[in-house]
Amino acid sequence: MCPSDVSTQWHAFLSALPKCEHHVHLEGCLEPDLIFTLASKNNVSLPSPSENPAYTSIETLSERYGHFSSLDDFLSFYFIGMTVLKTQSDFAELAWTYFKRAHEEGVHHAEVFFDPQVHLERGVAYRTVVDGYVQGCKRAESELGISTRLIMCFLKHLPLQSAQDLYHTALKEGDLDFEGRDPVIHGLGASSSEVGPPKDLFRPIYLSAKERGINLTAHAGEEGDASYILAALEKGATRIDHGIRLVEDPALMERIAREEVLLTVCPVSNVQLKCVKSVGEVPIRKFLDAGVRFSINSDDPAYFGAYILECYCAVQEAFGLSLAEWKTIAENGVKGSWIGEERKNELLGRIDECVKRFEGVL
Ligand code: HPA
Ligand code: ZN
Repeated sequence: MCPSDVSTQWHAFLSALPKCEHHVHLEGCLEPDLIFTLASKNNVSLPSPSENPAYTSIETLSERYGHFSSLDDFLSFYFIGMTVLKTQSDFAELAWTYFKRAHEEGVHHAEVFFDPQVHLERGVAYRTVVDGYVQGCKRAESELGISTRLIMCFLKHLPLQSAQDLYHTALKEGDLDFEGRDPVIHGLGASSSEVGPPKDLFRPIYLSAKERGINLTAHAGEEGDASYILAALEKGATRIDHGIRLVEDPALMERIAREEVLLTVCPVSNVQLKCVKSVGEVPIRKFLDAGVRFSINSDDPAYFGAYILECYCAVQEAFGLSLAEWKTIAENGVKGSWIGEERKNELLGRIDECVKRFEGVL
């Protein structure tokens, strides 16, 4: 399950460590074999081999995934892959399959992204998508004991109007209702191409959502420089997805540390999308030294070939962190989660217990 070179004891510890995942796109969990299976079940045509030879077979597609040249190169496959999802049970099964794997790898709390705009554009109803994912989340909560949160992403390569329509649909459906009850969708995010679309594209939506008390995050500082991170904070994001280019702006890094903004770092994704040459180039050490809170995440595991445990092991292999540093990382993930104090304390207790268990071993 994990090809890294970390020792058996470290692997056992990182596996047992209660983890939170805050940056995984459910559509990024569509494995190549499932893409072909669902395409056939739902009569969806994938590109023909003459249009795109990568779609000749499961093997050629998997092979092509190992050679992404950039974020946009990856996205061109990601947006094709998700077109095979059609029914509520397709969405529910996809979410359930992710949660099962995450649970096996020691995830206790998962905040997962989904991208409705592409589904709506091709005629899938908003409720089909949301109800399917909610079904997967509820099953994970009851059968696996994982706590879950859904984060709806707006796509930066599409016009603002499309995002506004989606936002208003979610409001009208009551899914973003934060008053008095647990909302169906716990937060909003922004993903897709970074360099190109205006940095402030979703500002009106974010400002409106902020007034309603809705949790806000945004992909920033992945391919784009630190000014994208600043723009995300200025429009109300309290969490940053990726954020690795924060190190280029020490003053902003100090602010992020002071304001306890969580970065959801995805080290293997960064390597696969050529943002860095190796996991060792991801600024994990700099963030630890500067007191910047971050979690470690898989992003699109079916495309990048690594689920969360492998991402943790890759970080250990590159940085040789101490038990105390891993404790801090795990605790900061809990503190930055969009859950109540009671669940946070429960998870912090489990982390403490696990670290104590390994103190004599590592
Ligand atoms: N960046 C931006 N958009 C995305 C990503 C990513 O890493 N993964 C899926 N959509
Ligand atoms: Zn992402």
